[in-house]
Amino acid sequence: MINKKNSLNKEVINEKMTLAEVVKEYPQTIPFLNDFHLDYCCGGHEAIDKTAKELGLDAKQLVENLNKIANKPMIGDVDRVKDIERFEKLSVDEMIDDIQETHHVYERELMDKIEDSLNKILLVHYPHHGQELTKLHHLYAQLKADLEEHFAKEERLTFPLMHKNPIPSVDDIKRVQQLEEEHSKAGDLIKEIQELTNNFTLPDDACRTYQYTFETMEALFNDIFIHIFKENSVLFPEYYEMKDGCKKSCRA
Ligand SMILES: [Fe+2]
Ligand SMILES: [Fe+2]
Repeated sequence: MINKKNSLNKEVINEKMTLAEVVKEYPQTIPFLNDFHLDYCCGGHEAIDKTAKELGLDAKQLVENLNKIANKPMIGDVDRVKDIERFEKLSVDEMIDDIQETHHVYERELMDKIEDSLNKILLVHYPHHGQELTKLHHLYAQLKADLEEHFAKEERLTFPLMHKNPIPSVDDIKRVQQLEEEHSKAGDLIKEIQELTNNFTLPDDACRTYQYTFETMEALFNDIFIHIFKENSVLFPEYYEMKDGCKKSCRA
């Protein structure tokens, strides 16, 4: 259950909330969750106590840390927080267009840059890091192909259908749920890459291009997490609710 936002230093997040709910209410927690590799987008729908148990973390401590961040006056990531708050106020049609104009465009740019630089470091650093870089090259190629096909499906099939059918049928909902499954697959590949690179830890002999590749890949993943969060936890639930004729205005 979500407690109301409170400007005083009080517990606003509890162990029964999911990380997706936490981010929806307190987007300023995203950098903390990223630092600790806590999944708030694809696997963010379990209660915090359950997630913490699975990861061997202290749930009470986790909630305490999240509350500290939720209660802090906003510094640093103001743009990201404002972006999510702005997004949550959009209609379903506006959200669909917004995601394509922002995340799809930006992530395509990043993916092309990474493909180019990853290929360069594979060649230059093959003698000392061939095994890791070959695996990374392979996993990344898989992720890029999956995401390109996923974006094409959203842009050419599912999103136009959502525009066309503002009140979804059971089949429309099933189609959108397929996108959520694809998000989970992308999330699994991202986790594999994070593990393989030890969360983008550079080797001692890394060159500037190696560093650029890791930094750009990390930026891509951080954007994908927000992108998937917006679709899985804001846009799609909003669309599913339209089935029962409950528009945003009737819940306000
Ligand atoms: Fe998308
Ligand atoms: Fe998507």
